[in-house]
Amino acid sequence: MKRFNTTIDTDVRDNADCDRCRNSEVRHTDADGLCTKVKSVVDSLPVRCVGGWANDKIYYLLQYFQIFAKGMAKKWGKLRYVEICSGPGRCCTRNCKEQDGTALSIVKNEHFDLLSDALFIDYSTNVIDILSKRIESVGKTAHAHAIVGDYNDQTSIIRALEQFSPESLTLCFIDPTDCSVPFETVRSIFQATRGRCDMLISFFDGLDFHRNAVNATLNKSFSRLQAKYARFLGTPDFFTRKEIVEAAQANRYSDLSMLFRQHYSDKLNALGLQYQSWKSVKNFYHLLYASSSSRGLDFWNKATKYDPVGQQEFDFGV
Ligand SMILES: C[S@@+](CC[C@H](N)C(=O)[O-])C[C@H]1O[C@@H](n2cnc3c(N)ncnc32)[C@H](O)[C@@H]1O
Repeated sequence: MKRFNTTIDTDVRDNADCDRCRNSEVRHTDADGLCTKVKSVVDSLPVRCVGGWANDKIYYLLQYFQIFAKGMAKKWGKLRYVEICSGPGRCCTRNCKEQDGTALSIVKNEHFDLLSDALFIDYSTNVIDILSKRIESVGKTAHAHAIVGDYNDQTSIIRALEQFSPESLTLCFIDPTDCSVPFETVRSIFQATRGRCDMLISFFDGLDFHRNAVNATLNKSFSRLQAKYARFLGTPDFFTRKEIVEAAQANRYSDLSMLFRQHYSDKLNALGLQYQSWKSVKNFYHLLYASSSSRGLDFWNKATKYDPVGQQEFDFGV
């Protein structure tokens, strides 16, 4: 099979201390998702425990990053990469392989030096300390900044953005574990960059919303979940809409997910991010790309034309 895209080196290593606990009752992870048993065989620092789908995310992000950096550096001069939910920089999958996470993969990429600055934001002080050590170990502290910030607190994110290269064209990757980043945060980031920002969002419809959609719509004891999704969409009345209630009453889970994605897509559209693509990752979630520029979408389509094993992919839309 012809391999079109660039191979991404994430420094994969066997980690013999990993005991595949993810599916068992006893898990060795702390509140930050860090493994309490395994340390990295590369630098002896903690690693984040992740599912196998992490590979696809890193692959597509890096393919796009390389095209973005090469394609836009000449035109824009100043480029900035921002990652909300950066993690500690290395992760370990349940098959006992550890590798660079998204943040370290970006910092170590050969095109990193085309950026004016990269900001890695996470709400955990411990995670940020670990990532800072890793950034230091690869000698990139001048342009890579690990910063504590909470996506529920827009001011903390905007303050971080304003510190470094505010005039740049920004690529912002938002990588949470569920649908809990308020739409207000996405809006604030877009406005703080004065619209010069392409967004890539890990959109957890499959692993989060799809499972809970009916209960969140109809069951009063799920009101906190409903409030989370309403915040995520930035639309308080989403769950009282006729078509949503009817779909929930008929247990039409797929329709509910489709309407949820469609609504989010419309919200991005209204911001000015009308060029969008939904890349499905193993039916668990989507990588949602959104740009105000058709050129950005062309880059994304090029970056995701082939999957990590070199098969051609097709985009079937929302
Ligand atoms: C999926 S992990 C990130 C993985 C990383 N991007 C990677 O691929 O290597 C999610 C991260 O979000 C962070 N996080 C959770 N809630 C947050 C919040 N409210 N604000 C900012 N970061 C948060 C967690 O500490 C965790 O490190």
